[in-house]
Amino acid sequence: TSLGNGCLIGRRIVCCGETGSTNTDAFLLAEQGAEEGTVLLAERQLAGKGRLGRRWESPTGVNLYCSVILRPELPPYEAPQLTFLSAVAVARAIQITTGLQPAIKWPNDLLMNGRKVAGLLNEMNAETDRVGFVILGIGVNLNMRADQFPADLRTPATSLLLESGAPVSRQLFAVHLLRELDREYLRFQQEGFGPVREEWARYCNAFGREVQVDVGPNSLQGPFMGVDHDGALLMKLSDGRVERILSGDVTVI
Ligand code: BTN
Repeated sequence: TSLGNGCLIGRRIVCCGETGSTNTDAFLLAEQGAEEGTVLLAERQLAGKGRLGRRWESPTGVNLYCSVILRPELPPYEAPQLTFLSAVAVARAIQITTGLQPAIKWPNDLLMNGRKVAGLLNEMNAETDRVGFVILGIGVNLNMRADQFPADLRTPATSLLLESGAPVSRQLFAVHLLRELDREYLRFQQEGFGPVREEWARYCNAFGREVQVDVGPNSLQGPFMGVDHDGALLMKLSDGRVERILSGDVTVI
């Protein structure tokens, strides 16, 4: 299949019933030379991967499990910019298909009413000075019912069905998502990170607000100032210094 219409993303779409992880499959395909814009979609994942080595619940047929192969001309430290790009595309696709506006929680969770509705896991293959390829992994809880979520989730989760009260067509969602990704990626290539960062800030739940960031056992407080070129969170400390945080858990206070 392909999305057609001159789109880069989705010019080749590989759909499968069941797989371990679409990210792992996409990584292997990319290593074998698959072209930029190749998309993998699965009905179900047996070993869906989340961030920080966690698993991603991937029951059959109800959600979207998607991985996209990109080959950007970027130094490896700027590759996190693509996570912000995919967060914006997912946020837009949610808005278009449900009419509801999600919030983005730094760096890459999508929330509705404070609950996680989608997650992003980007994996990169890089040489020292340039990116070889990036896999954008996107999982969106579309039609999962409350009883399908495991009780032990660290972050409370939700689905578009639970938030909007109406089922969302997986095909329609995928079409909108790939279109938005395509549009954002084209603009990113032409204009750089600036417009992506601006758009991301519109959806960010913490922008300009007072936040607490927990980094391991330490915690910092201050206004959320934005994100740097490598995706680091910028936070103003009480002594006026701006701290760069590369990973941590943000709570709006
Ligand atoms: C997170 O922890 O928030 C990231 C979740 C990413 C899940 C998606 S589903 C499609 C792709 N394949 C995977 O194994 N993981 C990503």
